[in-house]
Amino acid sequence: MRMNHTTRNIILVGPMGAGKTTVGRLLARSLDRPFIDSDHEIEQRAGVNIPLIFEIEGEEGFRRREAAVIAELVEQEGIVLATGGGAVLRAENRTNLSRHGCVIYLHATVDHLLERTARCTHRPLLQTADPRQRLTTLLTEREPLYREVADLIVTTDSRPARQVVRQILNHLQNGQAQRGNG
Ligand code: S3P
Repeated sequence: MRMNHTTRNIILVGPMGAGKTTVGRLLARSLDRPFIDSDHEIEQRAGVNIPLIFEIEGEEGFRRREAAVIAELVEQEGIVLATGGGAVLRAENRTNLSRHGCVIYLHATVDHLLERTARCTHRPLLQTADPRQRLTTLLTEREPLYREVADLIVTTDSRPARQVVRQILNHLQNGQAQRGNG
């Protein structure tokens, strides 16, 4: 079933390694919608990659860019948007995300996040001697924020992306049906 008649954005939030990009791409393809990754957009506009932005401007500079990009992207309609793991940190982003779309929190345990980010070198916050500790700390701080903005929470863990996507599609279809009936 296609749901192109709805123009509501679908926005994915969650920690690094939760599968936002993979799930987002597949979801967008299933719904025949454009997929946008806010990290990718930040890099495109800056003309450099995220590690270099962190190196030159610090996390604060990156967050400023991230907030500006999110504020602009959510004004579009009918997109599937994957956000960076720290997008929920700023209150203005949380407001923008929940106002302009159905927000889905992709939840995963630290073990799974660690497994999926282990070989990655492009995430400055994980370039540390103890990534497990870092992920645990970040998750403790951010988990309440992901939950605050979420319309739906979906566990990804080791589930295949297509299964996660199916769950999201079911939720969206039920929501449509309820709105149609109401
Ligand atoms: C970050 C997550 C990254 C990226 C940046 C900071 C974070 O995005 O935005 O490295 O603070 O958790 P992903 O969640 O897509 O890896």
